[in-house]
Amino acid sequence: MRLLITGLNGFVAGSIVAQAKKTWEVHGVDITEATGLPVNVHGHQLDLMDQEKVATLFQRIRPDVVIHTAAMANIDVCENNKELAWKVNVGITEIIAEQCKTMGIKMIVCSTDTVFDGIKGHYSETDTPFAVNHYAKTKIEAERIVLEASSKNIVARLSLVMGLPVMGKGNSFLAEIIEKLKRGETVKFPENEIRTPIDVVTLGAALTELAGSDFGGIIHLSGNTRINRYKMAIHIAEMLGYDASLVEGTNSNALAGRAPRPNDASMENGLAKSILQTPMLTLDVGLNLTLNFKIEEI
Ligand SMILES: NC(=O)c1ccc[n+]([C@@H]2O[C@H](COP(=O)([O-])OP(=O)(O)OC[C@H]3O[C@@H](n4cnc5c(N)ncnc54)[C@H](OP(=O)(O)O)[C@@H]3O)[C@@H](O)[C@H]2O)c1
Repeated sequence: MRLLITGLNGFVAGSIVAQAKKTWEVHGVDITEATGLPVNVHGHQLDLMDQEKVATLFQRIRPDVVIHTAAMANIDVCENNKELAWKVNVGITEIIAEQCKTMGIKMIVCSTDTVFDGIKGHYSETDTPFAVNHYAKTKIEAERIVLEASSKNIVARLSLVMGLPVMGKGNSFLAEIIEKLKRGETVKFPENEIRTPIDVVTLGAALTELAGSDFGGIIHLSGNTRINRYKMAIHIAEMLGYDASLVEGTNSNALAGRAPRPNDASMENGLAKSILQTPMLTLDVGLNLTLNFKIEEI
C-alpha cells in the first residue's frame, strides 16, 4: 500500500513519515527538496499549486491514500496575506481532493482546533465551526471540500501540536522554548488560549492508523490535558528542569497587529479514543514520548 504525504518537510509530516514507513511505501512531496530522508522514503519536489504537475505526480505514484498536511499554517502570516493563504490552504486542497476523487484515492486533510470561535470549549465533532481569523476561514472551506469529495475522506482536526521535529525542520514551539530557556531568556505564552495539546509522535501514529482504516468523516485528535498555554509552558519548563520564572503570561487577543485567536479551543477526543488503537495521552506522558522518540532506520 502506497501513502503520499504532502508538506513532507513539515513538523507533522516528519512524524507521519517516521511511523508510516514501517508498514507503507511512503512518498512525500514538498515545495522545497527534502534532504536526509530515510532510505526507503521517496521524496518529490513541486509546488502543489501547479495542478498539471500534481496530476502527473499522482499518475506516477498511484497512491492508495493521501495525507494532506501542506498548508500556510502561521495564523498571522495568513491574516496579512489573505489571497495567498486562500490559494495555498483552499486552492491546493481543492486540486488534491479533485485528483483523489478522479482516481478513487482516500484523502485525509489536517485541519485545526482554530476552526472554532473559542467561546464554549470542549468542542466535539458535531459542534459547528465559526472562524475568528482568516486562517480558520481557509481551513473551514478546505474541510468542506474534502468532506464533499468523498464519504471515505477524513478531516482530522488537530489541537496544538507539541514536540520536537522528528525529521527535518518544523514549526515546533517546544524546540524554540527549550533553546530560549537554555539561554536564560524570557518566554511569553498566552493565558487566554486554552488548548488540549497533542504530542507529535501520537499524532503521527494516529494519522497513520487512520490512513489504514475504514473511517470517514471528522475526527478530533487532541490530548487528554486541557490547559492554558501559559500554564503549559510553566509545566514544560519545570518538567525539563529549567527556571519556570522565565515564563511570562500574555493575552494574545490584546496584542496589537496579531490576528484574533479563539480563547478556549479545547477539543473532546472521545471518538479518537473509541476508534483508534493509538492512545491519546496526557501532557506529561506525551511530552516524555516526544523527547525520547528516535526514528528507526529500516
Ligand atoms: N503545528 C500545529 O500546532 C498545528 C495545529 C493544528 C493544525 N495544524 C495543521 O497541520 C498541518 C501541518 O502543520 P505543520 O505544523 O506540520 O506545518 P509546517 O511545518 O509549516 O509544514 C507545512 C509544509 O507544507 C509545505 N508547503 C507549503 N506550501 C506548499 C506548496 N505550495 N507546495 C508544496 N508544499 C508546500 C511547507 O513548505 P514551506 O515551509 O517551504 O512553505 C511546509 O514544509 C497544517 O495543515 C496545519 O494547518 C498544525
